[in-house]
Amino acid sequence: MPRSSHPRCKGFGAVRQVGHALNHWGQDHIRQILSGVNERSSTGEVDVTGWAFIRDEPGGRDAYKRWVALRADASRDEHWLWKARQRTAGGSERALTDCAEVVVSRLAAMLRIPAADCRFAVRDGELGVISRNVSPPGFSLNVATTYLPEVPGYSRRPPAPKPGEGLGRMRLDEGYTLDAVEQVLADVAPPPGTAGQNAFASFAGYLVLDALVANTDRHPGNWAILERDRDGRRFLAPTYDHGSALGAGLTDEKRRSRSVAAFARRGIANSFAPPGQALVDLACEAVRRSGATVWLDRVAALDNDAVREKLVAPSGRLSDVASKFMFEVIMENRRRLCHVNSVEG
Ligand SMILES: Nc1ncnc2c1ncn2[C@@H]1O[C@H](COP(=O)(O)OP(=O)(O)OP(=O)(O)O)[C@@H](O)[C@H]1O
Ligand SMILES: [Mg+2]
Repeated sequence: MPRSSHPRCKGFGAVRQVGHALNHWGQDHIRQILSGVNERSSTGEVDVTGWAFIRDEPGGRDAYKRWVALRADASRDEHWLWKARQRTAGGSERALTDCAEVVVSRLAAMLRIPAADCRFAVRDGELGVISRNVSPPGFSLNVATTYLPEVPGYSRRPPAPKPGEGLGRMRLDEGYTLDAVEQVLADVAPPPGTAGQNAFASFAGYLVLDALVANTDRHPGNWAILERDRDGRRFLAPTYDHGSALGAGLTDEKRRSRSVAAFARRGIANSFAPPGQALVDLACEAVRRSGATVWLDRVAALDNDAVREKLVAPSGRLSDVASKFMFEVIMENRRRLCHVNSVEG
């Protein structure tokens, strides 16, 4: 069926709003938590300079992150991971990792994909983001590398620490296939508060989100399972860490000169096997296997103006060039997701 006539693509460019549905903790709860917070409504950012230090975060690749909370005795789901802006690959500019995190968190809410709530933040004058802990009290969170070794065919080479680099990257997997993910999630419930679908169908939503925002970084340290303390029951955790999405690491010069279509085409699911899979193909394959077409329906129905609103950032954080580039990446990937789906459907 030609893409323009596919029913799922009718919403493309049209104005049906998916709505500002929020992650499962609920907007009211989040508002309550932030109500005492030093959020400067004029700039839309939270100053966490005076917040209590809770602990360092050993996972991930950089040292510029730590768990903080408004009060030292705050419960675990009121802990936020502070992440300072990182540098672009060449180190010449600050990467827009904070913008990517916040924009993707807002898009996920629109698509009703359970995701960490992220806010623009400042700490000691430094720009960054805070990402709310997706692990509620009574649960512990383990990244997928904990469970994947249970799957035949998956292996994880020991990390090779380099001098001054801590524990090394999480990219040394073999057999990190969609099939392996499906097996890990076989006895896992969907994220708490999600009704009517299994964990793999929820994960398909994460892959659709990745394809939409060009997040190539869904390695097994970037998704997790929550284990309930009282009975050991496992749940897929809401998605987190989208800091490298939307070309966050590009310089404005590259954004000006680079074709959005070419950038989107190079969106490859890094660390997945077989290597070199396009993000949109992997997402559509997960949707096909899980039957969770709802994610593509919601993407097709995204409203252009509502997407544009999600790109609003405090002054000085996001240049017009970067905002336009990010918007066009989302639009281009929406078109590609609809196209792949219509050709396959
Ligand atoms: N919102 C969150 N809730 C709970 N745990 C989180 C959250 N965000 C991050 N984490 C934990 O912190 C670790 C490091 O965070 P994150 O992945 O965001 O950092 P990173 O340095 O960008 O990682 P990467 O190596 O993937 O680039 C994650 O692997 C996860 O275990
Ligand atoms: Mg990470």
